[in-house]
Amino acid sequence: MIETKLHQDVLEIIISNAPVNALGAGVRSALSQAIETAQADDQVKVILLRGAGKLFSAGADITEFDQPPTGCTLPAVIDAIEASPKPVVAAIHGTALGGGLELALGCHYRLATPTAKLGLPEVSLGILPGAGGTQRLPRLVGLDAALNMIVSGSPVDATSALAMGLVDRLVDEEDFPTAAIAYARILDAPGRTRDKQVADDAGVLERFAAANARRIRSLDAPKACMTAVKASVELPIDEGLALERKLFAELVGGAQAKALRHAFFAERAAGKIADLPADTPRRPIAKVGVIGAGTMGGGISMNFLLAGMDVTIVEMTQDALDRGVALMRANYEASAKKGRLTREQVEHAMSLLTPTLAFDALADCDLVIEAVYENMEVKKEIFARLDAIAKPGAILASNTSYLSIDEIASATKRPADVLGLHFFSPANIMKLVEVVRGAATADDVLTTGMQVARSIGKVPVVARVCYGFIGNRMLIPRQDNAYAMLLEGATPEQIDRVHTDFGMPMGPLQMIDLAGVDIGWHRDTDRIESLQDALCAAGRWGQKTKAGFYNYDENRKPSPSPVVAEIIDGFRNRAGLKRRDISDDEIVARTLYTMVNEGAKILDENIAQRASDIDVVWLHGYGWPRHKGGPMFWADQIGLTTVSEGLARYADRIGDGFSMAPLLARQSADGGAPDK
Ligand code: CAA
Repeated sequence: MIETKLHQDVLEIIISNAPVNALGAGVRSALSQAIETAQADDQVKVILLRGAGKLFSAGADITEFDQPPTGCTLPAVIDAIEASPKPVVAAIHGTALGGGLELALGCHYRLATPTAKLGLPEVSLGILPGAGGTQRLPRLVGLDAALNMIVSGSPVDATSALAMGLVDRLVDEEDFPTAAIAYARILDAPGRTRDKQVADDAGVLERFAAANARRIRSLDAPKACMTAVKASVELPIDEGLALERKLFAELVGGAQAKALRHAFFAERAAGKIADLPADTPRRPIAKVGVIGAGTMGGGISMNFLLAGMDVTIVEMTQDALDRGVALMRANYEASAKKGRLTREQVEHAMSLLTPTLAFDALADCDLVIEAVYENMEVKKEIFARLDAIAKPGAILASNTSYLSIDEIASATKRPADVLGLHFFSPANIMKLVEVVRGAATADDVLTTGMQVARSIGKVPVVARVCYGFIGNRMLIPRQDNAYAMLLEGATPEQIDRVHTDFGMPMGPLQMIDLAGVDIGWHRDTDRIESLQDALCAAGRWGQKTKAGFYNYDENRKPSPSPVVAEIIDGFRNRAGLKRRDISDDEIVARTLYTMVNEGAKILDENIAQRASDIDVVWLHGYGWPRHKGGPMFWADQIGLTTVSEGLARYADRIGDGFSMAPLLARQSADGGAPDK
């Protein structure tokens, strides 16, 4: 776990704990031992600390946070390094994150290669840097920069680190670690971070707290980070370190930190296909085709173009093609205006796009993604045409959000090459892609689908075929119950508030307004059989018509609509329903517990590989609050009995065909977790 190499008077101590040099108990104890031994060795004048493999260190071993602490602590190792009479130099390549960077902060000098990244991402795990980061970083880089790094959790690159005083010097990448060793050799007396003073920058803390108040309002960790950083100004370092340690201990066992750790590991697990070895081959993808230049087709294409891939986009009419291409450019330009893209990136991306009306232009694509509207006959016709022209080995994907990939694949003579790549709207922004594995999908087609999604910065999750796959299938009972409760007496504001208070970015009705109330509507204004029909017939199609469940102003700010209240009243009266008060508890049970129930069915039917995959779908496709881990994790935390009892309480109102998921019934009886 620790290797040492003596280069005359410089002792190299190498952290060697693949894959990310996490600082688990074994590493800490070996490191502490190596530092102690080096003190006693007269030959050693300087100690150089670095990581083996691709990086310095990813910090504490996160898996240990759920176990009782063992062995020497990281703060103790760092104290020993800082107290060393012999200079200790951190030589950073790749990344130094969390406890890894804190280790470097305890060293007397820091060197970094130009491509290195340095950060304290603990806040994203619901904790704060617990090994001195909140006290030492401000002493090196000042309050403002330290607050930004610690509270955002975002890493900085080596050049910025040099400019802010976080590293002392950049060393040649090609000549690493030799150049670092040569530099270490000329160092003498150790300079200790703890001896520096933090400049009390008047008002910085207050300004920072005010500017970030909204973003962090329901989160414990960023607030604790700010408290600890404040202590770096106000308290002697040992008292500051003690406070940091206390806050760390409080947070690490808390509900938010557990949920965020779950999300971290769930995301990594989702990338693994349970029944396929990691080295399953993949097909090379260089050229992508997209059928349909509507919002989805355009959004999907934008991802590939930005990743530097050639995209051919096909439409039926010149008008639709021009509109689609213009929208893509406008979206890129809006990002450039916000500083998220450079002008060169926009132009380069657009230069890789080939818009065409010629379907045959897809013949040399390695991957073709169909993104036309949801109609099985249309999709089958497209896949039959594709089958006739696509080159052998090309992957044929559908972006369908509900329909059977198996039926779509049956329109081709190569069902093994077909899969679903279900992007979420807006497709250029949302991270989730459900990679839908048909009954005949070949292994290398599935692994390629996962890899392609990753290569454009998405989070792929495998789903099997069913109506709506994972995410949208769970949305159905939520949506049905939201509509039903409006007729029974709830208001759109009440239903949505329960969800936004929970931490969702928007409630079910706000989401329908965003997506379009008219999705799935039959388009006959005289046929009014449902609330949706009535809203659509009245031109209330959602945000796009500035009227849906809410009225919208020019900034898309919603306000309650008396017209909607009237439409709902009219419906209720015609249905002979008596308005009653609906409690928040009922809304939670009928919209959130029903989702968990559907999730449990999805798991039982093997549509999802694991419960945590369902959580990843909701984190990245629908904005489930990360500090609540995802619906299945959340259900486990509040107790499956709570969920099943809540469902039972409202079972007769939940809607036709409601049935408790057998898995939920079984496991709540056992008191177990929703995972199998
Ligand atoms: N502890 C334990 N396991 C870790 C880990 C950590 N700190 N960081 C990564 N891993 C594991 C992953 O779970 C994954 O395991 P599997 O292969 O079994 O799925 C494996 O290492 C590789 O990780 P990635 O797939 O994420 O690899 P990558 O190359 O894409 O990314 C990375 C590398 C940027 C370092 C990324 O892993 C990462 O961001 N890690 C977490 C960094 C972090 O949050 N550090 C702070 C820890 S808390 C702390 O240090 C507290 C303190 O104050 C002492």
